[in-house]
Amino acid sequence: MHQEIKELFTCITNLVEAYRDMGFDPPPIRSEEIAHTEKDAGENNKPSPALYVSDSLKALEASIGNCRLCKLHNQRRHLVFGEGNQKATLVFVGEGPGVDEDLSGLPFVGEAGKLLTRIIENGMGLSREDVYICNVVKCHPPKNRDPEEDEIENCMPFLKKQISIIKPKVICALGRIAGRAMLGESFKITRDRGKWFSFMDIPVLATYHPAYVLRYPTAKRQVWDDVKEIMKHLGLEVKNG
Ligand code: URA
Repeated sequence: MHQEIKELFTCITNLVEAYRDMGFDPPPIRSEEIAHTEKDAGENNKPSPALYVSDSLKALEASIGNCRLCKLHNQRRHLVFGEGNQKATLVFVGEGPGVDEDLSGLPFVGEAGKLLTRIIENGMGLSREDVYICNVVKCHPPKNRDPEEDEIENCMPFLKKQISIIKPKVICALGRIAGRAMLGESFKITRDRGKWFSFMDIPVLATYHPAYVLRYPTAKRQVWDDVKEIMKHLGLEVKNG
């Protein structure tokens, strides 16, 4: 029964969001009244009175729930919401979950993810827990194809909400798809990586996607330049030049 209520809540929330995106202004849903999570339900399945306020990532994740806004939900195993620090000063945005992420429900855990983790840990001297990592689309596109326009359009409100909750100092767009989704169609990764742009009034710098670097290791040099630029912007010490 609790599961049914959660799904109903998700449908209502998605509908309200869809209306908002179409420019309507529906009556506000007081998410602090209805946003329960699995954890809140407790072992004995009783909803607890401890509820999430609407400006937390957990409440947002609960409200996205079992999203079926686009066709990507058909084949996904897990919706990959994102993970990391809600107070992160740096957010990494990739394009969409791969196979490993679809299986685990966590972003950037496959080979490209391992490289991103090395960049964060060895390059920046941070940990994955210090930053926030997510994707433009939250569900795995079959056969690792690029996410399609309608899929990106449906999912962007979720990314925007994540960003508005975290309010990072810098967003690092990983690759062409993330760059275009946030910065517009004229964005070109080869021309525009390493430059500062703005998304939701937050500075954005795009670099090559780690999967691209695995294929073309010579791109490492440019990625390291971009990482250093981000570190400078965040006031972090840059080692090795
Ligand atoms: N590639 C992405 O863009 N995102 C992931 O989460 C994993 C691989």
